Amino acid sequence: MNPIDRFNLEVSDNIRGLTNDTDLQALSRVWIREITRHKWAYNFAWLGRPAIQFPNDTWALQELIWQIRPDLIIETGIAHGGSLMFSASMLALLDLCDAIESGVTIDPKISQRKALGIDIDIRSHNRSAIEAHPMASRIQMIQGSSIAPEIIEQVMHIAKSYSRVLVCLDSNHTHDHVLAELEAYAPLTSIGSYCVVFDTIIEDMPDDMFPDRPWGPGNNPKTAVREFLVRHPEFEIDKSIQHKLLITVAPDGFLKRTT
Ligand SMILES: C[S@@+](CC[C@H](N)C(=O)[O-])C[C@H]1O[C@@H](n2cnc3c(N)ncnc32)[C@H](O)[C@@H]1O
Repeated sequence: MNPIDRFNLEVSDNIRGLTNDTDLQALSRVWIREITRHKWAYNFAWLGRPAIQFPNDTWALQELIWQIRPDLIIETGIAHGGSLMFSASMLALLDLCDAIESGVTIDPKISQRKALGIDIDIRSHNRSAIEAHPMASRIQMIQGSSIAPEIIEQVMHIAKSYSRVLVCLDSNHTHDHVLAELEAYAPLTSIGSYCVVFDTIIEDMPDDMFPDRPWGPGNNPKTAVREFLVRHPEFEIDKSIQHKLLITVAPDGFLKRTT
């Protein structure tokens, strides 16, 4: 066996071990519960913009982006713009890799690849900072509710010009909202790509964890994913991602479009 295959086999064995280690999975849930009380996800930034994410999940997204090589990343929930900046910078890297591979330089101002963000409330200080960022030419933002018909229509119109689409849902985390987002945006996911649903972990957290939020156990992105999958066999949960991460806010949220 060549050394690359041997290493890949070792990683598969690692992930199989983690898949069967229910003690470690339980410990990870406890760790997530306790660190969430400290708003740990707020402590990180990508290229200067705060990203409300667990770094592990962003790493997993990087692996998916390299694998899929999308030309459009659609994200609901912009906040300070960190996750959108991450997507834009990954698309810039893909352009750079294409240029090196093909020998043709791609002008970022006319590059097709785009990160499209939707948020009901793009605060002016966040908008200004995102628009002033060197990655801005790869970013398009739409303000409005992600489930409003006119917003969905705009996104669908933009998506028509792209062929490899990755979708990330990270806005309002109630069951009904995420289900409506899934119905609207998951169909834009290209075959082989993913629709990533963040904060499914809420289902595994204690009842009193989100007292000032409308979501909680029984009403959250994971319950929406479960309902969505009953009607959408074209998607399946890629459990290998949560098993290798263990520390993730998106257990059962990495949905792969298979057909
Ligand atoms: C968790 S934050 C997004 C974090 C961001 N993805 C990041 O990683 O930095 C949630 C965002 O969803 C937005 N939001 C809430 N309700 C929404 C809705 N109905 N439509 C679109 N965005 C919404 C909020 O304004 C907020 O900025």
